[in-house]
Amino acid sequence: MTAFDYLPPLSHDDQAIAPDHGLFAVQPLTGGLGAEIDGVDLAKPLDDEMKSALRQALLHHLALVFRDQRLGPDELVALGHAFGDLHVNPFVAGLESHPEIMQIRSEENEEARFAGRWHSDITWEERPSLGSLLYAKTIPPYGGDTLFANMYLAYESLSPTMRRTLDGLRGEHTAFQGHARDAAFAEAPEKVVHPLVRTHPETGRKALFVNEYFTRGIDGMTSDEAAPILDFLYRHMVRPEFTCRVRWGEGALVFWDNRCTQHYAANDYPGSKRLMWRVTINGDKPY
Ligand code: SIN
Repeated sequence: MTAFDYLPPLSHDDQAIAPDHGLFAVQPLTGGLGAEIDGVDLAKPLDDEMKSALRQALLHHLALVFRDQRLGPDELVALGHAFGDLHVNPFVAGLESHPEIMQIRSEENEEARFAGRWHSDITWEERPSLGSLLYAKTIPPYGGDTLFANMYLAYESLSPTMRRTLDGLRGEHTAFQGHARDAAFAEAPEKVVHPLVRTHPETGRKALFVNEYFTRGIDGMTSDEAAPILDFLYRHMVRPEFTCRVRWGEGALVFWDNRCTQHYAANDYPGSKRLMWRVTINGDKPY
């Protein structure tokens, strides 16, 4: 049996591709997840109808890409607030004027970057993030793409036996893994425990909720017992068919759902600068 014996055919329903609200156009990126949204000016306040349509699009496509936006810090914070309260990272300083805006900055000659490991944001907190909005300020001439993976599909493509096994397990998460590059996280809580499979509070679908950046082990198991399960999941959950890849342009913004996706920043732009602003929406306790 292969993973795909258990996977229903991927599809984006017609309603999402050609929404009848006429507010914006939607172009799916891959059969896995992601969509380009055209026709929305995110610098303007969003009315309730637009907010609700964007939220539906997020629930359906999991990662929404908007191009050519012109956002200052006030507009980005207001946009994030349209979808919930914003997280202020206790370990990574935000903009002085807008602490909710985390700068993801890589200088030309910097090697240690926030890159190179799949994760979902803030899983080291009791209430991990609902979603994040990442805005491209300065991008390298090539490279620096962000990849996204669909954790519903990762879960649904497992065998019923494996799903039943994982359903009963809980992962241990921590921000600080002991690497020098994570020094900013040294004060983070020692350990937070979340179900390895969470139920999305809005869609009711189950998704894998475990990531190679912040998950350190499985509650009640030795590290030797947990390692092969986690290693399998880390390989399985990022199969190309579950992913999409976003090539940034200046002014692009991606809004993703942290409850059912993971992302990976590619560290493949030596000698170039990359600057992104991120606002992170607070979420619920996973169940
Ligand atoms: C992040 O992990 O939130 C940042 C992703 C990126 O810089 O592409």
